[in-house]
Amino acid sequence: MSIRKIAQMGEPVLRRRAEEVPPAEIGSARVQSLIDDMIETMRDADGAGIAAPQVYESVRICVIEVDANPRYPDFDAIPLVTLVNPIVTPVQGETGVVEMYEGCLSVTGIRGRVRRPRRVSVTALDREGKPVAFEWAGVPAAVVQHETDHLDGVLFVDRADTRSLAFLREYGRYVPFEERIADGG
Ligand code: NI
Repeated sequence: MSIRKIAQMGEPVLRRRAEEVPPAEIGSARVQSLIDDMIETMRDADGAGIAAPQVYESVRICVIEVDANPRYPDFDAIPLVTLVNPIVTPVQGETGVVEMYEGCLSVTGIRGRVRRPRRVSVTALDREGKPVAFEWAGVPAAVVQHETDHLDGVLFVDRADTRSLAFLREYGRYVPFEERIADGG
């Protein structure tokens, strides 16, 4: 396993639509070591998730993991999940939104407020190539939408209220703690 370099905003690989992974290739050493490296890179960088284009691999894979954070006791940890060829769709008939300040390992030092559908269904293949399907709401739904956006060349700054954009120091100073996450649920 190794920690990979993380592409920064402006790198063309972050703006491309990533390619599907042929299911027969998921078990290959190349894909398995890419997934291992993505997990290690995400953890090293203290990210909530990372998508393959962020490590210069234009394929449809992302990993997500959120540890329990005593500062956000209302939000559960997300156990490690690997999604290959994920499809994320808002749940029909649900109109709620989750609005939170997002950051990105590829947009270093900037936070911005993004509104997203509050409840989504996710289908994908796992790292063994088995189909998985689940629904997420609130913060986990925002995280999985952020990561799958990367597979379509979309960055959170494209969806942010641009007037909310802030550098990390100013975010820490001026965005009140209770305004950082607004879960409409
Ligand atoms: Ni990101």
